[in-house]
Amino acid sequence: MTAAARSHSPGESVDLFLTADDLAKSLRRDVAEGLAASPRTLPPKWFYDERGSALFEDITRLDEYYPTRREREILAARAPAIAEETGATMLLELGAGSGEKTRLLLAALAGTLRSYVPVDVSGDFLGEAAAAIAADHPGLTVRPVVADYEHHLNQLPTDGRRLIAFLGGTIGNMPPAARIAFLGGLRATMGPEDALLLGCDLVKDEERLVRAYDDAAGVTAEFDKNVLRVINRELDADFDPDAFEHRAVWNAADEWIEMRLRSLRDQTVRIGALDLTCAFAKDEEMRTEISAKFRRERLESELGAAGLRLAEFWTDEAGDFSLSLARPA
Ligand code: SAH
Ligand code: AVI
Repeated sequence: MTAAARSHSPGESVDLFLTADDLAKSLRRDVAEGLAASPRTLPPKWFYDERGSALFEDITRLDEYYPTRREREILAARAPAIAEETGATMLLELGAGSGEKTRLLLAALAGTLRSYVPVDVSGDFLGEAAAAIAADHPGLTVRPVVADYEHHLNQLPTDGRRLIAFLGGTIGNMPPAARIAFLGGLRATMGPEDALLLGCDLVKDEERLVRAYDDAAGVTAEFDKNVLRVINRELDADFDPDAFEHRAVWNAADEWIEMRLRSLRDQTVRIGALDLTCAFAKDEEMRTEISAKFRRERLESELGAAGLRLAEFWTDEAGDFSLSLARPA
């Protein structure tokens, strides 16, 4: 689609760059490719149907999952400086989710901000979150967009002085090549007054990282297996989520966490919409997510390669998480 369609969901009216049909087609392609690969992989964007988005919100409240709390701490301390330095009139947020932490930015930017544009693939959740934010900010134009930030960057609005927020460490869910393409594509859309606010999780000890992605209550395991439920529903498949075990593994060479689903037995799975039968051997693992952890130097050089200059680099007190402000070089 080139022009946005406009939907009227129970929440906010939403701009659609991705229709249900586009989503169905790209899910079919991703699942067909991912199940044919060796080892098998599934892209993490398919976790986030309405249940998956709600499970992610549950994860953000777990003791073991520090990133959301740490990033909120940084935002609370630095939102006034961000407002001062950017003077943004539009806040464009990629992978916005519930937008809860964003409220700190909206409050600090109240003097200059005219519009908030949250972008997400998870349409129903986005509409509801945007409606809640609009209700609390009369006078602010809230314009949610259902889009894939890996494909639709140059269709997003460019007017005014934009602050483009990409929070939560979500950039770490892209493999390195996709991340570099994404940053370059984003830079190409930026005017000289625009700024990027980027949340990145930092490298730390393995035990804490693994606990953050394999919590004692099993919420992350449910989130991980949600991708199987999405495929069952959307592609007429018969994955048994109980026949897979969630695993979180630290890949020290690549400095990322891998979430994997391990088959508990020899089994076959039928994916009706692809006319495909897949055999899984006992103990075979399918990778469902990477979550890259950063060091300042690597981040600065990746931004630099995309034509972006690191203007600010803030961390929480404990040094667990980072928030960077980057500008066109
Ligand atoms: N920014 C929020 C939510 C992070 S969860 C926070 O910091 O807590 C990641 C969000 O990105 C989810 O809402 C998910 O639906 C969205 N997302 C994942 N892949 C996406 C893609 N390719 N395009 C747009 N949104 C995506
Ligand atoms: C959205 N993203 C930054 C989360 C992360 O930490 O990589 C997704 C997540 N996966 C498991 N827990 C949380």
